[in-house]
Amino acid sequence: MGAANLQINKDVFTLNNGNKIPAVGLGTWRADSEKEAVDAVLAALKNGYKHIDTAAIYANEEFVGEAISKSGIPREELFITTKLWNSRHKDVSAALDESLGKLKLDYVDLYLIHWPVSTNPETKEPYPDHDFVDTWKKLQEIYKKGDKVKAIGVSNFTVKKLEKLLSADGVDVVPAVNQVEAHPLLTQPELYNYLKEKDILLEAYSPLGSADSPLFKNETIVEIAKKNEVEPAQVLVSWAVQRHTVVLPKSVTESRIISNLKTFKLSEEDFETLNRLIEKDGVTRTCNPGFNNFDD
Ligand SMILES: NC(=O)c1ccc[n+]([C@@H]2O[C@H](COP(=O)([O-])OP(=O)(O)OC[C@H]3O[C@@H](n4cnc5c(N)ncnc54)[C@H](OP(=O)(O)O)[C@@H]3O)[C@@H](O)[C@H]2O)c1
Repeated sequence: MGAANLQINKDVFTLNNGNKIPAVGLGTWRADSEKEAVDAVLAALKNGYKHIDTAAIYANEEFVGEAISKSGIPREELFITTKLWNSRHKDVSAALDESLGKLKLDYVDLYLIHWPVSTNPETKEPYPDHDFVDTWKKLQEIYKKGDKVKAIGVSNFTVKKLEKLLSADGVDVVPAVNQVEAHPLLTQPELYNYLKEKDILLEAYSPLGSADSPLFKNETIVEIAKKNEVEPAQVLVSWAVQRHTVVLPKSVTESRIISNLKTFKLSEEDFETLNRLIEKDGVTRTCNPGFNNFDD
C-alpha cells in the first residue's frame, strides 16, 4: 500500500434548510489568547478553511472577528458558528447581539444551544421553570426573522432530549445540526442513526480526542496512519468526513492547521476497522462536564 492521495478538503454538506456547510471547520476552544486565536484563524483562512467554530464561552469571538476582517475574505464565502452559553438561556437576543458585536458580523451561519442546560447566572443552578425547549423557541423566533442567524442547531443533545424537543408544542424548526463529541472511540451509533433519520447533521467535536488525546496513542489508528503514510490526525478527519459528519479539528499550530485540512479516502477495510474500533478498545468520552447529564 502506497501513500494516500491527500487533498485539501473542499467537501460541503447541505443542512436541512438547504444551506451549505463546509465539512471541515477549525475548532477554537482553548485558543484563548489574542495572538494564538488571531494567528490560528488567519492561518486557517489563508490555507483553505472556510468554516470556523467558536462559542461565547471560549472568550475568543473578538479574536475570531479580528482574523476574519484581516483575512479580507468576503463574508459570504465563510461559514461562522457561535454558541449560546448556559447562563444566557433566558436572554438569547442580547447574548446573540453580544456575540455578533464581538465577531463584528451582521449574522452567523449557525447559532447553537451549547449545552441542554439552562442555569441561573447568579446561583449557577439550573432554573426550575425554564429548559432547553423554552430556549429553542427563542432561537426559532430569531431564526424566522432571517437576518441574524442563517441556521440554528443544538449541541450535546442525546436522543432522549431531541425527542423531547421535537415533540414539544410550538417547536416547528428541526435543528440543523447536533454538535457532539465523535471520533473512533466514541462513534455514538444510536445517536448517529437517529440524526440521519431526522435529517439533522452530526458535527463531530473533539475529533482528535481533544488535548492529551488517547486517539494518537491508539495502535489501530497509528497503524492505519503508517500504512497510508499520513498523520494520525488526517486519518481521524478523513474518517469523520467519510461518515458524512462535519468535523471540527482544533489547532493553534500552523503546520497542523494546514495538515488537518488535507484528507483522503480510506479503504473500505480501514473505514470499517475504525467504525468498529470501540468493540475492541471500548468507548472513551473526553468532554463530560459535571453540569450535564448524558444519560438522560
Ligand atoms: N459543543 C461543545 O460542547 C464542544 C466541546 C468541545 C469541543 N468543541 C469544538 O470542537 C473543537 C475541537 O475539539 P477540541 O478542541 O476539544 O479537540 P481536538 O480538535 O480533538 O484536539 C485538539 C488538540 O489536538 C492537538 N492537535 C491538533 N492537530 C494535531 C495534529 N495534527 N497532530 C497532533 N496533535 C494535534 C491540538 O494541539 P495544538 O492546538 O497545540 O496544535 C489540541 O491539543 C473545539 O475547538 C470546539 O470548537 C465543542
